[in-house]
Amino acid sequence: MATLRLGDTAPDFTAETTLGTINFHEWIGDSWAILFSHPADYTPVCTTELGAASKLKPEFEKRNVKMIAISVDPLPDHLSWINDINETQNTSVNFPLIADPEKKVSELYDMIHPNASATATVRSVFIIGPDKKVKLIITYPASTGRNFNELLRVIDSLQLTSNYSVATPANWNYGEDCIITPAVSNEDADKKFPKGYKVIKPYLRVTPQPNL
Ligand code: BEZ
Repeated sequence: MATLRLGDTAPDFTAETTLGTINFHEWIGDSWAILFSHPADYTPVCTTELGAASKLKPEFEKRNVKMIAISVDPLPDHLSWINDINETQNTSVNFPLIADPEKKVSELYDMIHPNASATATVRSVFIIGPDKKVKLIITYPASTGRNFNELLRVIDSLQLTSNYSVATPANWNYGEDCIITPAVSNEDADKKFPKGYKVIKPYLRVTPQPNL
């Protein structure tokens, strides 16, 4: 398939997961979704990632984001590995893990980078909006565990952009000032941002985070 890019419709699929067969678009429904790949079952970094992700599920839910993971191993391995994850990470993995032994979904999302590994996926992250469009793609190597707090931070930024036409500056954290996107005129900004805004340069206008 052609390379998947931001703004593209996330490819739909039907797949077996640890929580039953799902159709991806139907499963997303009106929510946001995060799809993240794991190179293989019974691997140490993946074990810690799935533990960390499952502990943060309430935070993803608060933001109306459904979580789903994928690994190319078959369902019986997933189910048995999840027991290990629950035991060692002191959690209960509570979102679906896609079984992709034929690599259909992994290939659809270009998660296998043959020069890194011919068989395992890299650590890909896709954030998908309720419109089923891809909002974010991140690719990590197998050896680096992802930061799920960073993914929550990105989701906060994406949802502020979607709901309030603001962007977020470098190293932004929840509660800090946001940037008014260049597409918003000063006249519209006067109406849209009742807390006011500061014009540092005509192209650099900051306003308090609008949803607080
Ligand atoms: C891991 O999850 O620990 C891992 C997987 C593949 C390569 C290196 C590490």
